[in-house]
Amino acid sequence: MSKLFDHTKINGMALKNRFVRSATWEGMAADDGACTPRLVDTIARLSEGGVGLIITGHAYVKKQGQAGEWQLGIYEDSLIPGLREMTDAVHQRGGRIIAQLAHSGLFADPSLTGYPPMAPSAISGITQHAVQEMTLSDIENVVQSFGLAAQRAQKADFDGVQLHAAHGYLLSQFLSPFFNRRSDRYGGNVENRANIHLEIIDSVRSYVGKNYPVLMKMNTRDFIEGGLELENAVKAGKLFAQNSLDAIELSGGTGLSGKLSPIRTGIRKKADEAYFEDAAVLFKEHIDSPIILVGGIRSFEVAERIVNSGIADYISMSRPLIREPDLVNRWKSGNRSKAACLSDSRCFVPARTGKGIYCVMEERERKKGI
Ligand SMILES: Cc1cc2nc3c(=O)[nH]c(=O)nc-3n(C[C@H](O)[C@H](O)[C@H](O)COP(=O)(O)O)c2cc1C
Repeated sequence: MSKLFDHTKINGMALKNRFVRSATWEGMAADDGACTPRLVDTIARLSEGGVGLIITGHAYVKKQGQAGEWQLGIYEDSLIPGLREMTDAVHQRGGRIIAQLAHSGLFADPSLTGYPPMAPSAISGITQHAVQEMTLSDIENVVQSFGLAAQRAQKADFDGVQLHAAHGYLLSQFLSPFFNRRSDRYGGNVENRANIHLEIIDSVRSYVGKNYPVLMKMNTRDFIEGGLELENAVKAGKLFAQNSLDAIELSGGTGLSGKLSPIRTGIRKKADEAYFEDAAVLFKEHIDSPIILVGGIRSFEVAERIVNSGIADYISMSRPLIREPDLVNRWKSGNRSKAACLSDSRCFVPARTGKGIYCVMEERERKKGI
């Protein structure tokens, strides 16, 4: 049996294989961020499809951090019973699920939140909205909000949490010298830029204890002029790992990074796959924590090579599991042909109009009887 189907543990969380469903905004939550039956069904199907660990779509820890419509929320206790329906559906099917905790900072949508977006620095011209530089008390409040959200996740029976520090959202903005131009203890060198993350890890631990899996998804590079570079990303990752983070998922890019966005299109050849692999090599050299690699992985052979060569410990995918929620079971059964996903990212289109994500190409082919 391939190493990809090893049984492993992350801080006590037992996993039945090395496949992870990377956090994916499904566009299926209610207007107030509550979990819906449709979202539970989608997550249940993923779990039936065999993926070892599911990471929820980014869930906002504070109303002010909401990025988009029909996004999952984890900002108040009234949301816990709905979230528990999601975790129950996964546990009944023998799977594991963790909640991705997020705040979108500068990219929050004030038409949804009712608040002006806030960010490490008040940079103008990136979105249409005026941005407020976060005060020390804003930072303290956000740190506390992540801690409380983790406590809610634990109460809702999630198997752990993942802090979203990738793709240009708030915690990625703090790490990035492009977004973070502060001169206090939260800005300047990378150690300072990582202070909010360390405080959040401490806050989360104070609520959930040391035996609860706490992961992070972070950028390895921003791919924007003046943004986070690999060497500093590794330094930050090392600090997080030394401060009780249990695993790191490696991604990169932001909404401002053009073709080098986190969600790249046109992955055709094996050489286009695993587009953050070089970064994973450097992280592995310097960091002992388990590494989860995301970004364009489409072939069983590529996934196997990455794990067998020790470049990463886990393989994470988003779009392939939208098209084929049962991809992991298919590969396990011996049908190892490449994921059918065409990496055109058209799965976003229906979600933007309230229909939720699904694979538009698969629907088209089905209707044509292909
Ligand atoms: C529809 C959609 C929604 C996404 N939502 C999130 C999210 O909520 N949080 C996150 O960290 N990444 C999100 N991503 C990025 C994916 O987790 C992943 O990093 C990226 O798509 C690359 O992996 P892939 O090539 O396997 O799709 C999303 C991607 C897609 C396609």
